[in-house]
Amino acid sequence: MKSFLIDRYAKGGALRLGESPMPELRENDVLVEIHAAGVNPLDNKIRDGEFKLILPYRFPLVLGNDLAGIVVRVGANVRKFKPGDEVYARPAQDRIGTFAEYIAIDEADLAMKPSNLTMEEAASIPLVTLTAWQVLVERANLQKGQKVLIHAGSGGVGAITIQLAKHLGAYVATTASTANIDLVKSLGADVVVDYKKNDFETVLQDYDVVLNSLGKDTLEKSLRVLKPGGKLISISGPPDPQFARQNGFGWPLQQVMRLLSFGIRRKSKRRGISYSFLFMTANGGQLGKIASLIEAGHIRPVMDRVFPFEKTNEALDYVETGRAKGKVVITVKQVP
Ligand SMILES: NC(=O)c1ccc[n+]([C@@H]2O[C@H](COP(=O)([O-])OP(=O)(O)OC[C@H]3O[C@@H](n4cnc5c(N)ncnc54)[C@H](OP(=O)(O)O)[C@@H]3O)[C@@H](O)[C@H]2O)c1
Repeated sequence: MKSFLIDRYAKGGALRLGESPMPELRENDVLVEIHAAGVNPLDNKIRDGEFKLILPYRFPLVLGNDLAGIVVRVGANVRKFKPGDEVYARPAQDRIGTFAEYIAIDEADLAMKPSNLTMEEAASIPLVTLTAWQVLVERANLQKGQKVLIHAGSGGVGAITIQLAKHLGAYVATTASTANIDLVKSLGADVVVDYKKNDFETVLQDYDVVLNSLGKDTLEKSLRVLKPGGKLISISGPPDPQFARQNGFGWPLQQVMRLLSFGIRRKSKRRGISYSFLFMTANGGQLGKIASLIEAGHIRPVMDRVFPFEKTNEALDYVETGRAKGKVVITVKQVP
């Protein structure tokens, strides 16, 4: 099958269009013909080798973390899916590879695709929406009426997280540049801070939760926005010791993560705020609930650009600019 892969880590390197063997199907696996694949900054970071300490991949490695497609075959133990089903997923982190014609994926990581979305729209959903769900519902336990600041509201994660937070009944603030203010307002943001003109930390106060997806500066300034008892949740680092323990990392890596997050954990503690790092995980059950929210019109995909399969490298370059408004998707199989 055709795939876009890497033979070694290389910062900024191009993916190679090559031939890969058809995936082997385990008993709990579903073989999916991929029609569309979402692109994430994570794809570029894996290519660059940024995750090599915590995600030990083997080469050649097919990249790609989001998919929508059609089931072609199922393993002996699969109960929930059958050939012909339209599905979507973020595969488990050790079984990525959606920039390809087929993938084998555990049925626990898969869900039926929202019926009102195209394949491209559906492929834009899994990774970012699972992130939003795991931050707001699981980690923050966000309640009606609580105040949440979602940084970078016009990005892939931000555009979906604003909508989920509104659906949960929260009061939502976000940061965006002048050109994207109308977009984030249309997604439901109650307050928009134009980061080109104002400093969010001087405008916002008494927040219950902040989702940080930006750098160290934004992370530290976010402490000033939170009230005592508030939660600072970062998806862009630094990783903390709890994350290291949950992932079963050895003592040396646990110490590295303790050191990396020492400063922000100490500053948070002084203000009575809890700091935590979150790295999303595959979850078909959550994707099923998300599909219901999409079908009911509570969440909609926010699409920036769709690229044809042969332009996968251009799609990754576009995401790497950091200027995408919503999601970038690759059409893998063009259906007439
Ligand atoms: N830990 C996890 O599980 C997890 C999951 C998903 C993503 N992430 C990480 O989270 C980060 C964001 O991911 P993403 O998919 O949302 O990225 P993205 O779609 O590439 O984000 C691009 C958006 O960020 C906005 N932006 C850039 N700088 C900003 C600033 N200073 N203030 C406000 N907005 C700003 C841009 O708006 P302008 O063009 O207007 O600046 C653009 O719309 C990445 O580092 C990604 O790797 C982590």
